[in-house]
Amino acid sequence: MEIRSWDRLVEALPPLASYEFEALKASIAEHGVLQRILVLPDGRIIDGYHRWKIVGNEAPCDTLDLDEQSAFLLGLAMNTARRQMSPNQIKELRKKQKPIALELRQKGKSQEETAKILGITQGAVAQWEAGAKKVISIISTNTAYNPPDLRIKIPKKEKEKIAERVATGESQIQIAADYKVSQARVSQIAKKKKKVAVSKAKIPDELQIRIEHGDFVTLCQGLPDNSIDLILTDPPYPKEYLPLWPELSAVAQRLLRPSGFLIAYSGQEYLPEVLNRLAEHLEYYWLGMLYHRGPTAQRFEVNMWNRAKPILFFYKPPRVKQGAWLEDVIESPEPDKDYHKWGQNPEPFKKLLTCFSQPGEIILDPFAGGGSVIQAAIKTKRNIIAFEKDTEAYNVLNSRFLCKV
Ligand SMILES: C[S@@+](CC[C@H](N)C(=O)[O-])C[C@H]1O[C@@H](n2cnc3c(N)ncnc32)[C@H](O)[C@@H]1O
Repeated sequence: MEIRSWDRLVEALPPLASYEFEALKASIAEHGVLQRILVLPDGRIIDGYHRWKIVGNEAPCDTLDLDEQSAFLLGLAMNTARRQMSPNQIKELRKKQKPIALELRQKGKSQEETAKILGITQGAVAQWEAGAKKVISIISTNTAYNPPDLRIKIPKKEKEKIAERVATGESQIQIAADYKVSQARVSQIAKKKKKVAVSKAKIPDELQIRIEHGDFVTLCQGLPDNSIDLILTDPPYPKEYLPLWPELSAVAQRLLRPSGFLIAYSGQEYLPEVLNRLAEHLEYYWLGMLYHRGPTAQRFEVNMWNRAKPILFFYKPPRVKQGAWLEDVIESPEPDKDYHKWGQNPEPFKKLLTCFSQPGEIILDPFAGGGSVIQAAIKTKRNIIAFEKDTEAYNVLNSRFLCKV
C-alpha cells in the first residue's frame, strides 16, 4: 500500500511552523519515528503527515478502517490536540470547520453533538446553519483559554520580513504558521507594507511644515516667545527620559501664547514624577486617558494588560477653557508602527487638535518620532513645527513630509 497525503485534511489544518518542522526532523534523525503513522486502508494519512514527509514510505504505520467522515474528524482532533496554536490560528481553523459542521447536521447530528465533536460553541453551529457569514465566539470556552481581543504582537522588523517573504511569492499559509497568526493577518501586513513604501503625505500649499533634526531644547531657542498656539506631543516614557519633562515645561512656558495648552501622552510608571515636573512651569488642567484597541502590552511587573495611556493637559496662565467639549477617555485605533517603533495612531491627535486649536494655528511637537502629530496637523489644517533628535527617525520624517516626489 502506498502511503499518501490526504489533501482535504492537510488543507484544513495550518502547516507546522518551519522551526517546528526542523525540530521534528532532528528528533526523527536522532530517535527515529516514535509515534506510528495512522492511515486509511487506501493509504491516505489520518495522522502523521509531517513524519511521512520526512521519512517517506518507510514510516511505520497502522491502518484504521473507519468511514471517511469519522476518520477526517479523528485526524482533525489528533492534530489540533498536539499542535501549539495561537488563539488566531485556532479561530481560523474553526472557520474551516463550517462545512463539516453543516454536513454533520445534515447527517442527523444535533447542534449540541456537532459542537461537541468540533470543539466549537453551539451558537456558532446555529449561526452557520442560519446562514450567518460572520460568527461571533466560535471557540468553545470549555476547550481553550482564549483571552479577549488578544493578538500576537509582531515587531516592525518581523513585519518587514513577512512582507518580503510574501513579495517573493512564498506561501502565506506557511508564513502564517511560522508566526502562529492567521493567514488574513499575513496578507494584511503585506498589503500595508506595500502601501507604506509609496505613501508620501499630501500637504496643502497654505500650510507651513517645519521639521528639524536635533535636540528640542536647542531648537526651541530659535523660536520667539509666545509664538506657539498648542504643544501636542508624545515624549519617550522610560526612566532615563524623566529629565526631559522639566525642560519641556520650561520651554512650553516661554513659547506658548498666554492660555495656550500643552498636551502630552505619558507612560504609567513614572506618572507622579512626570506630573510634578510639568507643574514646575505650567498649571495642571486635566488628566485624560487614551484607550488602546488592538494588541495589548502585557506588563509583567504589575500583572496588567495595558490599554490605558495617560494624556496630560497643562496650560500657561491665564486659564481659559478649551473651545469644544471633549470626552476624557479617547479610544485609539491600533498604534501605527510603520514609521516608528513608538508610533501612535494619528486619530486621537486629530481629535485633540480640533478641540484645543483652530485651523491655521501653529502647533509644536518637540518629539516627533514617526510623525503622527504632524500627520494629524496636516489633516486638520494646522501649521506644524516638529523636532526629532534621532537621525534614523528624522530621515523617515524627511522622506514622509519634506522630500519632493
Ligand atoms: C515616543 S516617540 C514619539 C512617537 C510619535 N508620537 C509617533 O507617533 O511616531 C519620542 C521621540 O522623541 C525623540 N526624542 C528623544 N529625546 C529627544 C530630544 N531631546 N529632542 C528631540 N527629540 C527627542 C525620540 O528619538 C523619539 O523618536
